[in-house]
Amino acid sequence: MNGISLKKPTSYFLALFSFLLAFSVSTTSLQAQEDGEKLFKSYCASCHSPGANQLVGPGLAGVYDKYEKEWLYKWIKNSSALIATGDAQAIAVYEQYNKVIMPAQPVTNIQIDAILDYLKVYAEKAPTVAAAVVGGTEDVIAEDSGLSGYAIAGIIVLFLILIILLRKVQYIFTAANARDSGDEMPEETTLTQALALTVSQNKTIFAVMGIVCLALFAKGGWDSAFGVGVFQGYEPEQPIMFSHKLHAGTNGIDCNYCHTSASYSKSAGIPSPNLCMNCHTYIQEGPEYGKEEIGKIYAALDFDPVTKTYGPNQTPIKWVKVHNLPDHVYFNHSQHVAIGKIACEKCHGPVETYTVGKQYAELTMGWCINCHRETKVQMADNGYYDEIHDRLPDELKKQYLEDGTITVSELGGIECSKCHY
Ligand code: HEC
Ligand code: HEC
Ligand code: HEC
Ligand code: HEC
Ligand code: HEC
Ligand code: HEC
Repeated sequence: MNGISLKKPTSYFLALFSFLLAFSVSTTSLQAQEDGEKLFKSYCASCHSPGANQLVGPGLAGVYDKYEKEWLYKWIKNSSALIATGDAQAIAVYEQYNKVIMPAQPVTNIQIDAILDYLKVYAEKAPTVAAAVVGGTEDVIAEDSGLSGYAIAGIIVLFLILIILLRKVQYIFTAANARDSGDEMPEETTLTQALALTVSQNKTIFAVMGIVCLALFAKGGWDSAFGVGVFQGYEPEQPIMFSHKLHAGTNGIDCNYCHTSASYSKSAGIPSPNLCMNCHTYIQEGPEYGKEEIGKIYAALDFDPVTKTYGPNQTPIKWVKVHNLPDHVYFNHSQHVAIGKIACEKCHGPVETYTVGKQYAELTMGWCINCHRETKVQMADNGYYDEIHDRLPDELKKQYLEDGTITVSELGGIECSKCHY
């Protein structure tokens, strides 16, 4: 038998495999960059912006040029130890930033390298962002792209298509050879046969690829389990398809009608089903889900919509909490809404357009502190400040009389104990 033979297309698979390897290496380096970002967000973002803004500590833009790497390793891993050795540069930094101690960070040199790389990339991407943005939106986080997961799935699909194509080509050639030489026509293999054959002819390659895939998947699972402490954009599924867009948007119901306690207490609270019944005793069907979703309110209250009577078997509606500050943080709604006169939208975004509850802001320490640095307190016509005003140190009183502005931070709003129990 002469002519082209493609019985064992191993060489094609070798070529394909090197292509895949190159592809996964390029996604891995992307991964390393993402790692730097994640590390920065879990360890540093509560005190540092990646740009120029000062939070608790200075903005970190340019630190990789400003200091020697060895010095940075020592500083980041244990700044007080470095200061204690009498290192002049460390003492200078410490004094420049009001002698606030930067706590020792549990990171390795490799992780610090990744963080520094991320800072460089951040600076290249957004040379002007740091200076221009206000209101703590500087580090708006790109949603986790899940790139590596998709890449792997894509590679697998591509691979299957290629196997099918190769087998097809192989069949055409063998059939052509058979016709030319007058042999018996070969049988066309099915996809499963083709796969089995390919695997048995290329065992080593498949074993290596299996291991690579497993490792990548394991790493993805690890990252999502321990990686990021920031849940911006979190929108969990709720027991009832309650839509803010329909209620606060289309029907213009005021936020305070349902979240009454936001203006007088620490928490804004989620309304009880009894409050829903003010309207839903009569509104028994919705535009999108008909009776189904409103029926769940009735089920929770054991309410009979026909006789309009309540039964004894009531069960609470288990709304999933969207926002979750850690227990060590103190946040008070009325302080911000009633005294600070800050609109809900400032922290929760355009809620009247949400069909599902979601977390709009980062809720990191940097986010709180950024706003406290930038926001001027509303002193005028605000009874709360009359007495505080009297107690202000003279220089702040003078500043207030001169330009009418004092920021939250100047009143002590970035002292650790204000927010931490
Ligand atoms: C709890 C707050 C806090 C955390 C977390 C924190 N830092 Fe700092 N950092 C500071 C403060 C405050 C300073 C200012 C120096 C001082 O007062 O000691 C500082 C200073 C620095 C400096 C010197 C900057 C300059 O321009 O001189 C670098 C570099 C730095 N931090 C890196 C990091 C990195 C990297 C991380 C994360 C691994 C981190 N820091 C985490 C509070 C923090
Ligand atoms: C008709 C009653 C109603 C109105 C009006 C309403 N909400 Fe809600 N809100 C709810 C319910 C019920 C939930 C819980 C379900 C969810 O998270 O979507 C909720 C959840 C929320 C959450 C997320 C809470 C969490 O779990 O962390 C925020 C933030 C919020 N509302 C803000 C607002 C703002 C701002 C407005 C005004 C623009 C508003 N709401 C108007 C009923 C209401
Ligand atoms: C102030 C009146 C009012 C209150 C209070 C109220 N709703 Fe509604 N709700 C409405 C109106 C109006 C509609 C839309 C009816 C329509 O367009 O046909 C609606 C529709 C709905 C729908 C149907 C959605 C759809 O597209 O099918 C659900 C579910 C719902 N509400 C849940 C709730 C829940 C849960 C509460 C209590 C947390 C609540 N509502 C409180 C007025 C209210
Ligand atoms: C200064 C920022 C800020 C403003 C302004 C603000 N919130 Fe919040 N809100 C938060 C934070 C932070 C949380 C998370 C609190 C927690 O987990 O303890 C939260 C949580 C909530 C929740 C979940 C339930 C709870 O109390 O934890 C609701 C509902 C809510 N806010 C509604 C509102 C409404 C309605 C307004 C306007 C009247 C408002 N918020 C104004 C920052 C804000
Ligand atoms: C949108 C701007 C903004 C954001 C974001 C914000 N705050 Fe505030 N905060 C204010 C303003 C304005 C005041 C001043 C009101 C006052 O003086 O009580 C204030 C006051 C406070 C106070 C009282 C300070 C004092 O000196 O008594 C605490 C505590 C506080 N905020 C905690 C937090 C926490 C925790 C977060 C983040 C989860 C946060 N804030 C996010 C604007 C903000
Ligand atoms: C305006 C409020 C506010 C002030 C002031 C504040 N923190 Fe925080 N802090 C927070 C919030 C909110 C979180 C939770 C952040 C998160 O979950 O991502 C936090 C988290 C932390 C953590 C846990 C690490 C982390 O990133 O989750 C440490 C440590 C910490 N703060 C130390 C400090 C120190 C030290 C100071 C004083 C220099 C301080 N904080 C001042 C609001 C504040």
